[in-house]
Amino acid sequence: MRKALFPRGRRASEESSSSTSRPTPTTPRATNVPTSSGFNGLEDLASPFVKKHDALNEGIASFYDESSELWEDIWGEHMHHGYYPNGVARADHRQAQVDMVDNALEWAGVTDVKRALDVGCGIGGGSRHLSRKFGCAATGVTLSPVQAARANEITADAADVDESLVRVQVADALHTPFEDAAFDLVYSMESGEHMPDKEAFVNELARVCAPGGQILIVTWCHRVLDASEKELPPDERSLLDRICEAYYLPPWCSVATYEKHFASAGLVDVRTEDWSREVSPFWRAVIETALTWRGVIGLLKAGPSTIRGGLVMPLMSKGLRDGTIKFNLITARKP
Ligand SMILES: C[S@@+](CC[C@H](N)C(=O)[O-])C[C@H]1O[C@@H](n2cnc3c(N)ncnc32)[C@H](O)[C@@H]1O
Repeated sequence: MRKALFPRGRRASEESSSSTSRPTPTTPRATNVPTSSGFNGLEDLASPFVKKHDALNEGIASFYDESSELWEDIWGEHMHHGYYPNGVARADHRQAQVDMVDNALEWAGVTDVKRALDVGCGIGGGSRHLSRKFGCAATGVTLSPVQAARANEITADAADVDESLVRVQVADALHTPFEDAAFDLVYSMESGEHMPDKEAFVNELARVCAPGGQILIVTWCHRVLDASEKELPPDERSLLDRICEAYYLPPWCSVATYEKHFASAGLVDVRTEDWSREVSPFWRAVIETALTWRGVIGLLKAGPSTIRGGLVMPLMSKGLRDGTIKFNLITARKP
């Protein structure tokens, strides 16, 4: 029987705004909750070998502790989708990832930054990029101690980065240790999908953002529900449930939910964008690298949760292709 990451009764595809009882970051993982019917092949065979965690954040930390070295080895310092204009595949995937950051910043109209917070920063690729691009201080937070150590090591070795400006530390994005209004850019590239309470996430980003500062979130969402729908149909929920299980994700929400949270946090000039097409070639490229000898050996060396993550990669592709999964950007200003 497959196990779910989220409490009984919560589905991976629920709109977070539709529930008043959201799990906290330390919510124990429920057991014996079927997430999908039937047998899911190698994914189910890998699951019993994956270390079980009592809390979501422990699972996330352990997943990135285990898998980050392999990702860096094959894909480099950015752990996020690449940007493929008009959805046309290109060969330079690492540049596509850098282009994702630059295009997202350009779309958001970010031109001048003094103090950036990189929320869910991986091994600090975004933090260093922001510091280089704007000459700003950049602080990154991640749940993974392995990522934080590696991030600071890369920064120390990078000739083109001012080490005194860039620092990555372990902290929970929902309870950061920073003063109110400490940053003029609050940036989150593909970490929002891990946050168990999207409203608390947005509120924390708004708290640490300085008046006049900007927030930019780039994240996975599910599609916006039709007026006639209360929730996604079972086949779409089942797909998201399997992705949640493998990537340590709590329930998904749509971009409409983020818009509501931004508005209730008092943020202004809220804008959203859908770049699902612009990222569409990405997973195929990741799958291709996973199927090389280097990829297969790397997966086997990394461990069972990385292997299970590899096995559900085609589901990300399918979800984007079918329109269940959306790759969304949300930005706003703090008045
Ligand atoms: C897919 S990686 C993205 C990394 C980075 N933003 C990049 O683009 O290279 C997701 C990151 O989110 C972090 N994360 C997830 N939940 C978090 C939380 N509650 N607090 C802080 N970081 C979190 C993970 O530790 C990981 O570093």
